[in-house]
Amino acid sequence: MIYYGGDYNPEQWDQQTVAEDIALMQEAGVNLVSVAIFGWSRLEPKDGVYEFGFYRDLLDRLHAAGIDVDLATGTASPPPWLGEMYPETLPVRADGTALTWGSRQQYNPASTKFREKAAELVEELAREFGSHPAVVMWHVSNEYGCHVSESFDPESRERFRLWLQARYGTLEQLNEAWGTQFWSQRYTSWSQVEPPANLPTFHNPIHLARWREFWSDQLLECYLAEKRVLQRVCPDLPVTTNYMGFFPTVDYWKWSPHLDLISNDFYPEPGDPRAGAQFAASSDLMRSLGGGRPFWQMEQTPSTVQWRDRNSPKRPGQFRLWSLGLVARGADAVLQFQWRQSRSGAETYHSGMVPHAGKLSPVWEEMVQTGADLKKLAPVAGHRLRASVAILWDWPSLWAAESAIGPIGWDPLTRVAQWHQSLYDLGFLVDFASPDSDLSGYEVVVVPSLFQVLPGLAEKLAGKTVIVTAGTGYQNGEAQVHLGGYLGPLRDLLGVRVVDLLPVAPTGLATGRITGAVRTRTRVQVRLDGQSYDGDGWAERIQVDQAEVVATFEGLDVDGLPAITRRGSAWYVGSFLDEAGRAALLERVLGSAPGGPQLAELPAGLEVVSRGPFQFLLNHGEDPVQFPVSAGTDLLTGRVARGQVTVGPRDAVVLDLR
Ligand code: GLA
Repeated sequence: MIYYGGDYNPEQWDQQTVAEDIALMQEAGVNLVSVAIFGWSRLEPKDGVYEFGFYRDLLDRLHAAGIDVDLATGTASPPPWLGEMYPETLPVRADGTALTWGSRQQYNPASTKFREKAAELVEELAREFGSHPAVVMWHVSNEYGCHVSESFDPESRERFRLWLQARYGTLEQLNEAWGTQFWSQRYTSWSQVEPPANLPTFHNPIHLARWREFWSDQLLECYLAEKRVLQRVCPDLPVTTNYMGFFPTVDYWKWSPHLDLISNDFYPEPGDPRAGAQFAASSDLMRSLGGGRPFWQMEQTPSTVQWRDRNSPKRPGQFRLWSLGLVARGADAVLQFQWRQSRSGAETYHSGMVPHAGKLSPVWEEMVQTGADLKKLAPVAGHRLRASVAILWDWPSLWAAESAIGPIGWDPLTRVAQWHQSLYDLGFLVDFASPDSDLSGYEVVVVPSLFQVLPGLAEKLAGKTVIVTAGTGYQNGEAQVHLGGYLGPLRDLLGVRVVDLLPVAPTGLATGRITGAVRTRTRVQVRLDGQSYDGDGWAERIQVDQAEVVATFEGLDVDGLPAITRRGSAWYVGSFLDEAGRAALLERVLGSAPGGPQLAELPAGLEVVSRGPFQFLLNHGEDPVQFPVSAGTDLLTGRVARGQVTVGPRDAVVLDLR
């Protein structure tokens, strides 16, 4: 079956409302709720005093109603008493200010005391509820790294030093790797190695990149400390924690082997035309992190969120369409934050499945309709998807790019999203892969702005259709540039190297006698197959060693220089192509990939995804569209489709092609 439901926070409601909730859940087809995510103060009202009655009664009632529970460990938001009694558990900002209670997540992930207190609670909880028949999954903490992902307290500093010692062995090796001879930074004692806070000017890039990696590891340690307890007490229950898409702070590739099931929270802006593409990218990443296994969407919003400057609701049908889209891309659970919209507190104006106006709101109607539809998709659960295109995505490379100083503010996340969106618009299913992943199953690999490239990648890419784009291969794993031309280890594969960077810097216009005579470059264009495309102000000077020039630059000082090259099936793009340019290049490259995916003629607005023997036709547009089908039954309506199906605006058809 497909799970449907959401975060249930009944701590804020009276017993009568809880009774009504359970009846409404049944009406909406809810079959799973996540409980106790923010339950610590209720579970342990005083240090070492545990009270489980409220949750026992709740779990019993949910179970009697046929509703499963994803039980949280409750450690995401410590109660005020914890910080008051153990101030060392509070995170400290770079300026020395400790964050306090009154919001949520005020814990220092590196605090030994915090980890101890969390583990004690988890142990009690696991003993109490590990064999409760309602519980099907453990939900450890919540969104690790969201709000607080670092602390500058003395214990964290000490842990950072130990972590670096384990990584580098000797101080000499750290000095060497970090290039500390520059700016007289050489360390002569481990006690001199500090967190990168409160520096007079620029940090050493590798120092910051390692700090970020250290915190990703500390957060993972927090998760593992709880997971170990759960595994020991109830070895049969699976354990997850909820990810946040491409959240930049935590290396999910490194984390994922430690999760029994990948789960995700994602909240695209409903008014953004790219939101559907972003949702698809987030789902594609989750499926890929799990090695192709189905994932759970742990959170999305029923309609509006409350945390943007302006919070627009979902359009009618958009929640249902995106929910079906999640299943299309591998989700076996569609869960929401939160079940009932709060009456008070910070998230009062965040939508819930049960809105403030209750059944009077059209949101409720869509919740019920979606629940009924997801029930019909039960046969889809468990099936896998198969993509022949992969995009490389790597957190350490992101940290390296974001820690680098100049020549532009690197934004690899945007570049990755853009290439994914272009592939999505052309109808390709995409997996994400890390440079360490097994790439043997992919015919096509796109490498957008992979700043850090280590030896060995070229060998894995050899023989495939490969598109590498600007901003790739500048550095090795220690933030040292690849000398002799960027692209480093990829130079032979691509037959080119990058020998200079030619970005456009924004300038004003001058009209004076001398100043008005000065010419500067204001834009860069790429000329491909007789068309000009914008290059987002970025040009690289490409030295062609052994490749064909496919497109050239247009612009002052770069006119006629190579912009896109090809060596066999390995393409290099030395610019940030606009949307039309990416589409044109992809059509040219993928249209010709031997054995590669064929570009289908897809109507505007229609997303087509195959999951096992099921074909999802998801119409994101405003007009009905028609799509040719051989023969199949629509799981949603039971209608047999033959020859052609019509899909209404923001509606879907799910064909069983067996
Ligand atoms: C996150 C949290 C939830 C809730 C939602 C609101 O995803 O995990 O507790 O705050 O955001 O959008």
